[in-house]
Amino acid sequence: MADPIGIGVVGTGDWGANLVRNFASLPEARLVALCDTDPKHLARTAARYPGARAVADVAEIAGDPAVRAVVVSASAVSHYPVARAMIEAGKDVFVEKPLALQVDQAEALVRLARERERVLMVGHLLLYHPGVRYLKELVRSGDLGDVLYIYSQRVNLGKVRRDENALWSFAPHDLSVILHLLEVEPLDVVARGSAFLQGKVEDVVFVDLRFPGGRIAHVHVSWLDPHKLRKFTVVGSRKMVVFDDMEASEKIKIYDKGVDRGGEVVSYGDSLTVRSGDILIPRISLQEPLTLECRHFLECVRDRRTPLTDGADGLRVVKVLAAAQASLDAGGTPVAIAPATQEVA
Ligand SMILES: NC(=O)c1ccc[n+]([C@@H]2O[C@H](COP(=O)([O-])OP(=O)(O)OC[C@H]3O[C@@H](n4cnc5c(N)ncnc54)[C@H](O)[C@@H]3O)[C@@H](O)[C@H]2O)c1
Repeated sequence: MADPIGIGVVGTGDWGANLVRNFASLPEARLVALCDTDPKHLARTAARYPGARAVADVAEIAGDPAVRAVVVSASAVSHYPVARAMIEAGKDVFVEKPLALQVDQAEALVRLARERERVLMVGHLLLYHPGVRYLKELVRSGDLGDVLYIYSQRVNLGKVRRDENALWSFAPHDLSVILHLLEVEPLDVVARGSAFLQGKVEDVVFVDLRFPGGRIAHVHVSWLDPHKLRKFTVVGSRKMVVFDDMEASEKIKIYDKGVDRGGEVVSYGDSLTVRSGDILIPRISLQEPLTLECRHFLECVRDRRTPLTDGADGLRVVKVLAAAQASLDAGGTPVAIAPATQEVA
């Protein structure tokens, strides 16, 4: 086996601790350094991994030749400056979602990684989820027919963030899956939401996306909700699928349901028949998506491959988030998505 890849992790808070645990357990990696500006967070994680250097300044990670690849799991506002500094220092970089908080910043990272021939991967975790891989195959194979519409719910009573709203915190997951399934950028976005708990940070946001060909999608995110839902519903012209990540094992249900056209058309209504067939529950691997994601990053670093969730993927999601934020700020007016420029597509 090739030498393990030296990993530095910037940001060792709640989620960073999960990334650290994964990279520390993979034989393809060697956890070299941990960095956090919060001494309490740093000390807590460092105590579990005494073999890794613990530092407070990201410059020490950038300057450490033993660190070949850096995982950025700091607060979202730090993603851009930290990722930029790491690519400039010659490191391959994994950045948690969202890639950046502005479109021009995300574009700059994509461009820089290309110029420097560095791996840039974004933590769009769900694309590594065996359930989403299955969903993608259902769409790709044509089993569902044409995808007509998708809606997702990502709500709970949970961690209330101060520096990013529920849109930027949760919706990257939903948007990355929707863009992955439809393989096209939306035409425009409408978002409405409200901040009930603190100043201007929206706790609940409803996003509507309009795609070419009349397809639509809807995303509901909130950290102020009695339910804990992590659910996608995909309605196709032949079949319908629900991916429910809160289910312990039966995460995907395929409904052989639809409305068929047939028979001799006397009146329009007569030509439609409702089909309500079987429900199929396929066996889905229960491998931890985060482990699959971390392993993919290491493979891309080792083999110099473009990740499934590369910088361009991160940029596409940031563009939709930025348009949704603009719509939110304007009280729900539609905001068009600018087509990708060739340079960073
Ligand atoms: N993929 C997922 O499912 C998932 C889930 C939760 C969070 N996340 C993402 O992970 C990131 C971290 O989230 P969290 O819940 O761990 O937040 P957190 O607030 O618990 O931790 C963030 C840590 O980053 C540190 N930090 C901030 N700026 C820094 C800098 N410039 N240098 C070094 N350390 C810095 C903070 O001190 C803190 O310890 C966020 O981007 C979040 O969106 C992803």
